[in-house]
Amino acid sequence: MTSPTPAAAAALPDSIRDRFPIFENLTYINSCSQGALSDSVRAAYEDYLTNLRTKGSDWDAWVGKQEEVRGLVGRLLNTASENVALTASASVALSAIVSSVDFSGERSVIVTTDLDFPTAAQVWHAQERRGAEVRTVATDASGVLDLDELDRAVDDRTAIVSVPHVCYRNGAHVDLAAAVEIAHRHGALVVVDAYQSVGARPIDVEALAPDFLVGGALKYLLSSPGTGFMYVNPATTADLVPTSTGWFAARDIFAMSIDAYDPATSARRYEAGTPAVPSLYAAAAGIGLLLEVGVEATAEHVAGLCARLRAGVADLGGTVVTPASAPGPLIAVRSTDVDALVASMAADEVVVSSRDGNLRVSPHFYNSGADIDHALAVLRDHKELLA
Ligand SMILES: Cc1ncc(COP(=O)(O)O)c(C=O)c1O
Repeated sequence: MTSPTPAAAAALPDSIRDRFPIFENLTYINSCSQGALSDSVRAAYEDYLTNLRTKGSDWDAWVGKQEEVRGLVGRLLNTASENVALTASASVALSAIVSSVDFSGERSVIVTTDLDFPTAAQVWHAQERRGAEVRTVATDASGVLDLDELDRAVDDRTAIVSVPHVCYRNGAHVDLAAAVEIAHRHGALVVVDAYQSVGARPIDVEALAPDFLVGGALKYLLSSPGTGFMYVNPATTADLVPTSTGWFAARDIFAMSIDAYDPATSARRYEAGTPAVPSLYAAAAGIGLLLEVGVEATAEHVAGLCARLRAGVADLGGTVVTPASAPGPLIAVRSTDVDALVASMAADEVVVSSRDGNLRVSPHFYNSGADIDHALAVLRDHKELLA
């Protein structure tokens, strides 16, 4: 796993906060949507432009950047870089994964949950055109996935079980070890969407052993749209070959063959075309900064902030929708008019967001207790919008 650098991790957020100029004028607590811009990510974009300006077409450096990001994602997830594919988005990763699964035989069922992000649900439903049947496990008012219900929904006809690590709308966590066990007991593949946790919660794919795990760089990885990724388990997926592809997935990219499809055998077989090079520069810098601090230190700091927020909302008579078992990074708060609440908070320079009628507050390692207190003070001023 990542090894925290004591100097950067010791005194969060002070050790890192001045790397993020947005805090000069805003209380930014919206990392579930987009991570804040650091000095190093900004410099990385500038490096790209300088490179473009001075060299024109520096493909060796650009492909090198892709390999650098692949390695950083591997470090983040505790796996070798050859088990990582880089994609244009999490959606593209999911579509590539599903293109390697055959639904025409005995196993035609995809089991998903109502905690999944809509892009996963839409990719799964799109497979109905290829013979798949989609079963959705619904959560109750508690917002927690009932693992017994998941177990009942999965059977020997199940091809894929899809779960998020952290739900984008209510912050609930899924017990991934249990979900993997259920899927594998029935011989199904399990696809984890870790976009709302990666960078903020430790993930060890070697220990967890999902078949696939997808994410992207723009939220807790502090980077940019244009870089998604997936972990591909070499032990369980070696016989899967995607039909959604492109020349960057070829065994030899420069073979330039028009006679055959000869994909790489590593995770790279799930890639497609020219990578989003500017985004790779940002991702290398953003993930690098995160690894400097360490995911464990980040998770501990964020859990403290989330507990402070929960206590403050309770003191105001508000309702935290996020299940009590969830340590963060996303805390959802019930509102009578969430658009008005988000706008009121923005007017007081607190940036948060909303989904499903709830306010979403999502701190990262750069947030302070004072940020949470500021958000709570603004919520107090708009108490009538809490439910
Ligand atoms: C959990 C989750 N999955 C997937 C996505 C979509 O990712 P992309 O736009 O990279 O396909 C998001 C975006 O917010 C998300 O929160």
